[in-house]
Amino acid sequence: MIMAQIIGGIGTTHVPAIGKAIAEKKHDDPYWKPFFKGFDFVHYWLARTKPDVAVVFYNDHGLNFFLDKLPTFAIGAANEYGSEDEGWGIPVSRPVPGDAALSWHLINALVADEFDLTMCQEMLIDHAVTIPMALIWPGPSWPVRIVPIEINTVQHPLPTLARCFKLGRAIGRALESYQHDLRVVVVGTGGLSHQLDGARAGFINKPFDELCLDKIVGEPEALTRYSIHEWVEQSGSQGVEFLNWMAMRGAMTGRVSELNRNYHIPISNTAAATVVYDNQKAAERKAA
Ligand SMILES: [Fe+2]
Repeated sequence: MIMAQIIGGIGTTHVPAIGKAIAEKKHDDPYWKPFFKGFDFVHYWLARTKPDVAVVFYNDHGLNFFLDKLPTFAIGAANEYGSEDEGWGIPVSRPVPGDAALSWHLINALVADEFDLTMCQEMLIDHAVTIPMALIWPGPSWPVRIVPIEINTVQHPLPTLARCFKLGRAIGRALESYQHDLRVVVVGTGGLSHQLDGARAGFINKPFDELCLDKIVGEPEALTRYSIHEWVEQSGSQGVEFLNWMAMRGAMTGRVSELNRNYHIPISNTAAATVVYDNQKAAERKAA
């Protein structure tokens, strides 16, 4: 039977300053080069694997949701996502095509699986989607459709790491029950350690970031033992964007291996990580 296939995952930071650097073509600037070089492997891998769809776990920064109404989890169900994210000198992104039919499959499967997502038939995407898209697919047109899934990393109480991992698991199961010939890549954006405000503004924790990048591949459950407050202590108040990475990792239900990792400090005041994971199902391993 023809089913959708989750080919792997990509994790990347989404710092707004990257959008300005892309617009100003600073790829070879000494400050930016070590960061942008981290995407060479991403482009190489995508040229070989050619996904049709990207499921993007991200957090909205006040463009589509504000503090007055902020869902813990929300999903786009549109055939196109516009952006009006004009802060930090970023040019407004061209719209990104969606896959409403797949979105509705995921919504139906997830609600049946006891994950009650806010359904958005109209949704604006901010830099947490558009910058990763521009980094991952830098060409003049988007070669993939997206399903954006928002996770609240902004207003406490936040969902736990365990909950976001389970959300990813439910998305993974739902994707693999979709009877269409689709190749899917899952993307988690944000992080890693950073703190924008308060006495610890500028806080970065390289040893903890490295521990996260090590554990998330083969032992993601080990990371789910941290409480949100412990995570803020270790990773900074905006380091909780790692929740998006936990969901991305959860969505990969096969044998996961790290194909590439780039870790660079700092981009703006953030520890920037770029990773590519392979997701291989048991049946494929047997056939190989
Ligand atoms: Fe962010």
